[in-house]
Amino acid sequence: MGVDPFNALHVASLLFAALLLSPVAGAGACRKPAAASVSKSQWSSLNSTVNGRLVSVVPSAFWCQQRGGCTDAEWSSARFRLSNIPGAMDSYNYEQAYDGVGVVCLRNNTANCAKSNVPLYSVEAQTVADVQAAVKFAAAHGIRLVVKSSGHDFLGRSTAADSLMIRMKNFRNATFVNNFECGSIDVGSAVTVGPGLGSGDLYQLAKAAGKVLVVGSASTVAVAGGYVQGGGHSILSRKFGLAADNAIQFQVVDASGHLLTVNRQSNSDLFWAIRGGGAGSWGVIVSATFRTYETFNSTIFVQTYGTTSHQVAADLMQLHASHIFDYEASRSSQYFFLQKANLTAIPILTLYTIAINQTTPQTTALLAPFQRKALAISGVTLTSNVQVTSDTNDLVFFADDISGIDLITGSRLIPKETYQHRVSKIGPAYKTLLDLGTLNILGHLVAGGQVAANPNISSAVHPGWRTALVHLLMENPWTDGATIDEQNHIATLWTDKQLAAIQEMTGDDGPGAAYSNEAAQVEKHPEETFFGHNYPKLKSIKEKYDPKGLFIVRNGVGSDEWNAQGTCRFPRTSAVLSSHDFMLL
Ligand SMILES: Cc1cc2nc3c(=O)[nH]c(=O)nc-3n(C[C@H](O)[C@H](O)[C@H](O)COP(=O)(O)OP(=O)(O)OC[C@H]3O[C@@H](n4cnc5c(N)ncnc54)[C@H](O)[C@@H]3O)c2cc1C
Ligand SMILES: *[C@@H]1O[C@H](CO)[C@@H](O)[C@H](O)[C@H]1NC(C)=O
Ligand SMILES: *[C@@H]1O[C@H](CO)[C@@H](O)[C@H](O)[C@H]1NC(C)=O
Ligand SMILES: *[C@@H]1O[C@H](CO)[C@@H](O)[C@H](O)[C@H]1NC(C)=O
Ligand SMILES: *[C@@H]1O[C@H](CO)[C@@H](O)[C@H](O)[C@H]1NC(C)=O
Ligand SMILES: *[C@@H]1O[C@H](CO)[C@@H](O)[C@H](O)[C@H]1NC(C)=O
Ligand SMILES: *[C@@H]1O[C@H](CO)[C@@H](O)[C@H](O)[C@H]1NC(C)=O
Ligand SMILES: *[C@@H]1O[C@H](CO)[C@@H](O)[C@H](O)[C@H]1NC(C)=O
Repeated sequence: MGVDPFNALHVASLLFAALLLSPVAGAGACRKPAAASVSKSQWSSLNSTVNGRLVSVVPSAFWCQQRGGCTDAEWSSARFRLSNIPGAMDSYNYEQAYDGVGVVCLRNNTANCAKSNVPLYSVEAQTVADVQAAVKFAAAHGIRLVVKSSGHDFLGRSTAADSLMIRMKNFRNATFVNNFECGSIDVGSAVTVGPGLGSGDLYQLAKAAGKVLVVGSASTVAVAGGYVQGGGHSILSRKFGLAADNAIQFQVVDASGHLLTVNRQSNSDLFWAIRGGGAGSWGVIVSATFRTYETFNSTIFVQTYGTTSHQVAADLMQLHASHIFDYEASRSSQYFFLQKANLTAIPILTLYTIAINQTTPQTTALLAPFQRKALAISGVTLTSNVQVTSDTNDLVFFADDISGIDLITGSRLIPKETYQHRVSKIGPAYKTLLDLGTLNILGHLVAGGQVAANPNISSAVHPGWRTALVHLLMENPWTDGATIDEQNHIATLWTDKQLAAIQEMTGDDGPGAAYSNEAAQVEKHPEETFFGHNYPKLKSIKEKYDPKGLFIVRNGVGSDEWNAQGTCRFPRTSAVLSSHDFMLL
């Protein structure tokens, strides 16, 4: 890495400030407790500014109890929770503890709900002015702020105890145009969406407009919320690049409450950062504009393969790995999910192949070589086989997402190189992961293709995306009955065991790269793992737009200066400057 004179100067001046000045605002200081330091009349004044849209927040279990109960269908519906329960997180273990472990407020035991990790109040924003008022209020009172669009976050970044929340679910607009003007330049066909609009609804609107765009596979994930800031992968990313690669412009309320237009010409450093530099660290996105394409038909082929043991499943995954390049020509994508219903169940592989712009016969032919060899493995059976050809927008449309579960995740981007030169390591890695008690090994063939062809797009997308082929995600769930010891065991499964199995497969002894949106909240080297060599530049942009750290999230840019809860900033002495800062000097 070369010496960047701007950064070197910048860091030198920080050192200078740390040495000469007593703690300035935000340095070596804690935020004020929202409940104890803000008076009733101050809250009430905020409430009038936002036209009565300030609401109290409680954990979802407590909300249900107060209401006289939630049905199983309501409890587990992301749409129900999003519409009705401001405090709800999909992974509801994060409503309870910032690290997701140590549940206190259970669906059928609400005795300890007062100790939960949910905000005190939420501004249920309906206008940009509401967002600005909430940002200014949090800044003026020195309290913790969180931003939530859907509450899907796998790292618990959209909830925090004793905080003020801004909830963006009401920003549901989508405007399709054929000639989007970005700083007076016509950049063509695009859609501008609000962060309240979920993927499922956006797919349906795109279909009606005769367009497609890079969107994830979920009903309620906010495309203009956390999704795009992490990078955003899709069934179409091998065809068109990541969501961040397709983002043209953002409207963002920054830490001082100003509404900024963020694109290549205007606030271009923030434009660079917000595309891949991590969710929740830059300001409040009130809209995002993405490139759109003329729609076309594709085929989804869903196959389920039964196995009889961990070894048979590992052999099947070894075969799968040796066929992963079969899908290159059409830039088709695939989800390959190896899952066990419980620790004693037999692994089942579900393959969702999304054959881009391919007909049914073409898709059958694409899968045939793998299928033939898979069925030749003793113990492997094909238990279901469904094929649908339709408008691409229909293929991963989900009416709802499963919610209200206890879940911790961990992941790595698997380099293409592993599939080219270390393919024999893949089956054994699956065997190890299964033997460790991993229930969900979720493979996503969403890199390569246009993702790999886009390295020259200047953005904060982790460079590991450009050399990866697969995003491999472990989902480690537990049930409400689990003891704290059992939860701790699950929480450390990733850091202590699963990661080593993946490193054995990739041959990586460094931290590797991971997709920050679908990852572990406990990583030993979060800056490198989630941001790679972009971290120092991200940090300097963060310092420019959010010097006081209003937007601090777990594992986000700048969070290395804060305690895990994001409530106290470490004193700015040379001892706590990260190694990255020194590398620049
Ligand atoms: C069922 C399911 C399916 C998924 N499928 C995919 C997929 O196909 N591809 C993929 O790439 N990812 C996928 N994800 C991961 C998804 O990208 C992340 O969960 C992402 O964080 C969701 O963003 P959100 O805004 O909807 O969630 P939230 O929990 O509301 O927020 C997540 C983060 O973004 C910040 N944030 C939210 N809104 C804003 C805003 N308006 N302005 C600024 N910051 C904001 C929050 O502060 C938080 O840090 C999936 C997740 C789930 C649960
Ligand atoms: C905010 O004002 C509205 C309307 O006056 C009221 O219904 C609501 O309870 C108030 N919120 C809080 C937290 O007091
Ligand atoms: C989007 O919706 C929000 C909330 O309804 C509204 O305040 C905002 O003005 C809308 N934006 C556009 C560009 O239509
Ligand atoms: C584990 O899952 C299998 C397959 O779904 C099921 O038959 C079995 O009853 C489950 N066992 C336990 C202990 O839940
Ligand atoms: C889809 O395939 C047709 C026929 O092969 C081709 O003409 C068209 O350009 C393709 N569309 C896309 C979006 O790849
Ligand atoms: C797309 O698929 C639909 C079936 O869902 C079919 O009716 C339609 O003719 C197809 N369009 C093209 C252009 O092949
Ligand atoms: C990226 O830019 C470099 C330097 O300009 C060039 O050599 C390289 O070919 C480009 N790569 C791609 C994939 O366009
Ligand atoms: C409810 O709590 C009891 C113990 O109090 C536990 O056995 C049961 O599994 C819980 N049910 C659910 C759905 O969590």
